[in-house]
Amino acid sequence: MQNRAAATREYHLSDAQFDDIRRLVREHTGISLADSKRELVYSRLVRRLRRLSLGGFGDYLQLLERGESTELEEFTNAITTNLTSFFRENHHFEFLSGTVLPALEKRNAASRRLRIWSAGCSTGEEPYSIAIALQESMGRFRGWDVRILATDLDSQVVAHAAAGEYKPERFEKMPAARRERWFRESRPEHFVADESLKSLITFRQLNLMHAWPFRGPFDVIFCRNVVIYFDKETQRTLFDRMAEVQRDGDHLFIGHSESLFKVCERYQLIGKTIYRKVR
Ligand SMILES: C[S@@+](CC[C@H](N)C(=O)[O-])C[C@H]1O[C@@H](n2cnc3c(N)ncnc32)[C@H](O)[C@@H]1O
Repeated sequence: MQNRAAATREYHLSDAQFDDIRRLVREHTGISLADSKRELVYSRLVRRLRRLSLGGFGDYLQLLERGESTELEEFTNAITTNLTSFFRENHHFEFLSGTVLPALEKRNAASRRLRIWSAGCSTGEEPYSIAIALQESMGRFRGWDVRILATDLDSQVVAHAAAGEYKPERFEKMPAARRERWFRESRPEHFVADESLKSLITFRQLNLMHAWPFRGPFDVIFCRNVVIYFDKETQRTLFDRMAEVQRDGDHLFIGHSESLFKVCERYQLIGKTIYRKVR
């Protein structure tokens, strides 16, 4: 029997259509959608159907299957979950500032080069937190070639990240002094990242499932709360590729509910969701 929500729905999403959508999501993003995500998928895509004045999910699927690139981009943007915050999982930033950066100051003393990748950067809070950690210990790296690469599949969040403008509520957990030091009011109820942070970061739209237009090496990779939606095989392939753009001793940070156990043996666990590349 249909539940009340389904009975009053604007469009019908059949089992076969949901499966087709799942297949397309997996093909284009690597994300594996569980049965439980059906309502979520409906609510996110129904906006696209309305915007395009389509008769139903069948019409929408036909459009996607034709490979219409603008709509494929809207489709993946609609499906991705972009939840993030400044200094999320703060122990990673403490470890970066307290352990990783001092070690890199010694290890990279000859090249005076530092490269960090925020893979799945969402609206930018993660790369800006990395940039703040770097600037706050920049005394160490004065005159060095320091770059943060920030990438995400979702073109809308990358545009937001590059603009670097946030509403006051995004800073609720950040000490006021830090916010005042690194952001300035750009217009009422909006704060924009300081040029000294922005100038460290290159923002790019990048699907982690596709070829990467760089070879690294990255001293540190943040890939947090991204693979949680990928199946184990996709995770294995991805971390194996990440190991290819890191040297032994480089660091990888993953999300609090993620693990490389039985996924990738090229990294050794050295802290809570903190890994070092070993082979
Ligand atoms: C939940 S957010 C995590 C943001 C940030 N790393 C953090 O931990 O706060 C996950 C991000 O991964 C991105 N993502 C999902 N699949 C991706 C893919 N195949 N390639 C690149 N980014 C992807 C999403 O667009 C989303 O912005």
